[in-house]
Amino acid sequence: MHNHPVNISDLSKEFVHFPIGRRIRHEQEIPSTNSLALEELKLGRASHGDIFVADRQSSGRGQSGRDWQSETDDGLWMTIVLMMDTPPQPLSFLPCLAVHDYLNTELGLPAHLKWPNDILVGSKKIAGILVEATTSNDNKPGWVIGIGLNLNRRVFADPIKDRATSIVLERGSCPDRLSVLRGIIQRFNHWMLSDENLVSAWTSRSRMPGRSLIIRRKDKTYEAQVVGLSDEGYLQLELEDGRIETVISSSDIELPLVY
Ligand code: BTN
Repeated sequence: MHNHPVNISDLSKEFVHFPIGRRIRHEQEIPSTNSLALEELKLGRASHGDIFVADRQSSGRGQSGRDWQSETDDGLWMTIVLMMDTPPQPLSFLPCLAVHDYLNTELGLPAHLKWPNDILVGSKKIAGILVEATTSNDNKPGWVIGIGLNLNRRVFADPIKDRATSIVLERGSCPDRLSVLRGIIQRFNHWMLSDENLVSAWTSRSRMPGRSLIIRRKDKTYEAQVVGLSDEGYLQLELEDGRIETVISSSDIELPLVY
């Protein structure tokens, strides 16, 4: 079916008729594919559907200003550019669904989603998403959607040492990076074009509904049960007294260790 291109940039030929992937820029080592995509948008050199991929990132960025370990070429470090007036919402669920579905249907891994943007296998994180909003050189709204997926990494450094995993650790082998990239672009396009509700699709791929977790606020710590997600994609919890609380920030919640 595929004519198996020899390099990553050539993969774009398979996606000329799709919203995402018509142009793929492959770099060896850069600070961060998200940062490069943001810079290129500001310079008017990136457009809707462009993808940036790097072998290595010297300063990969994670959520909440954390680092993302990606100095080595044992993962897929990529960023997708979206320029739309009304993008699908919640936007970060698109990459979550794409990566989740690739891992489950193509690789047979029991991946599941942790709110808001993490992809786990068992209790460990295999992939993370970093969505950043910006404006282009001509002041149009744009988003860069960063995906970091651990492929062949076997050892992680602190602080994620015991909380991170990779495809190779979970199934003993990993397809080459080109085919992983292809599988994710295919599924990202699928979800871009789908009419399915992203919140219900996300919920059905998560183990969180019905589970208890810990909420840590400045002044108090308490337990609550996950009911599901609001229409906007926020986490909804039921407190011990039966009240429903909506959580907007992931830094407020802590999951049990075994999940
Ligand atoms: C997280 O879970 O903290 C988000 C991790 C996002 C990592 C990816 S790797 C490609 C892109 N470039 C970055 O600097 N970060 C994202």
